[in-house]
Amino acid sequence: MNSRSPAGAYADHLATVMRRADVALERGGYDHLLIASGIEKMRFLDDTPYPFKASPPFKAWLPLTRHAHCWIAYTPDRKPVLAYYQPDDYWHVPPAAPAGAWVEHFDIRVLADPAEAIDHMPASGRAAIIAERDAALPGFEPNNPRVVLDYLHYHRAYKTPYELGLMRRAQRKGARGHVAARQAFIGGGSEAQINALYLAAAGHSDSDVPYGNIVALNENGATLHYQYKAMARPAEHRSLLIDAGAEVDGYACDITRTWGNGDADFSALVAAVEHEQQGLCSMVRAGVDYRDLHLACHRRLAGVLRELGIVDMDAASMVETGVTSTFFPHGLGHPIGLQVHDVAGFSDEQGGLIPRPEGHPYLRMTRTLEPGMVVTIEPGLYFIPTLLSKLWGGPHADAVDWAKVEHLAKFGGVRIEDEVHCTDDDPENLTRDAFAELA
Ligand code: GLY
Ligand code: MN
Ligand code: MN
Repeated sequence: MNSRSPAGAYADHLATVMRRADVALERGGYDHLLIASGIEKMRFLDDTPYPFKASPPFKAWLPLTRHAHCWIAYTPDRKPVLAYYQPDDYWHVPPAAPAGAWVEHFDIRVLADPAEAIDHMPASGRAAIIAERDAALPGFEPNNPRVVLDYLHYHRAYKTPYELGLMRRAQRKGARGHVAARQAFIGGGSEAQINALYLAAAGHSDSDVPYGNIVALNENGATLHYQYKAMARPAEHRSLLIDAGAEVDGYACDITRTWGNGDADFSALVAAVEHEQQGLCSMVRAGVDYRDLHLACHRRLAGVLRELGIVDMDAASMVETGVTSTFFPHGLGHPIGLQVHDVAGFSDEQGGLIPRPEGHPYLRMTRTLEPGMVVTIEPGLYFIPTLLSKLWGGPHADAVDWAKVEHLAKFGGVRIEDEVHCTDDDPENLTRDAFAELA
């Protein structure tokens, strides 16, 4: 736990970010690091912008997540410059005057026009320019040097105490939303109504959540990233699978809960997945290869399929033959932070690839866990028609209790997802702690 004041924690965080930048620049032979927040993007042939989000490398430095046309210009051993776009605008609410613990750490130059940013860029030297092409300033084409980005991305896996504080706060927002969503499910709401109550309780609008909420009633839970929110209430409320997040100052949470309606078979399935999920969370320890956790998850879920009489095969051959992948076709989880699926889940410090285990194409994390990392642990078991039809037509069809599968398919599937912080000691389950605080 961080015992520093929030302002002190931010100062320490920025010092860490600058140290990382120093090394990254040295590795690439650059004198300056220039990072754009990005520009608003318009829909094609339209004057309506997509919701703007500042670029992750930009918001790693300071909590400006909705500010377009800003730049950080950093030169080692100098106070970083922030070109801060603050137009005189009456169509939209312009950004407020800079405020917060970060302000004193930047040399802030206010811009009335985005083009003025160029006046605050370094006059000479080689610059690593981290930006999308459309943010380019004349003479400052983004080059996004691989060696610089690889280093910065790799180190973003190690959260500072400041970042962990924000992530804990994001969890509390998400937990409040999930409690409200469950009530809305019990009350017979539609997916759209459940989503609305989630957002109100989490303190978010639909456009500022870190990813599109997945709010799936009944069979819809079998679509892993189900993207609709049906307006109509279904005739029956058998199950709710809700995968919904929240964010604080650019740091995300990503929480999934699954609720049933009292059906004994589905309740047993939810309880069994949750039991294994908690077991896996307790294995988030320094020195553990995340790939081994993923494979352990397959073995545990094979045990569930067997114990509940869904598949009659021994656990090892169920994993070996890929039968578990019919029911669990995604990875155990991923790093999380400034992005829900955070960067560098597969990279070593030099940017080299740490491969996924063969036959597991969707795993998003292959690194060995170390203190400071935060990962999701999100096992699931689903009844996905397109995958089940392949199992039905394959050599292991006879091992499956299809009547049971048909019954459970009406509930879609189960996923339980928490964020876990790897420490020097026991893991910290950020999500469970947040729910416990609400209880
Ligand atoms: N919400 C997407 C995921 O769990 O990875
Ligand atoms: Mn996730
Ligand atoms: Mn999720």
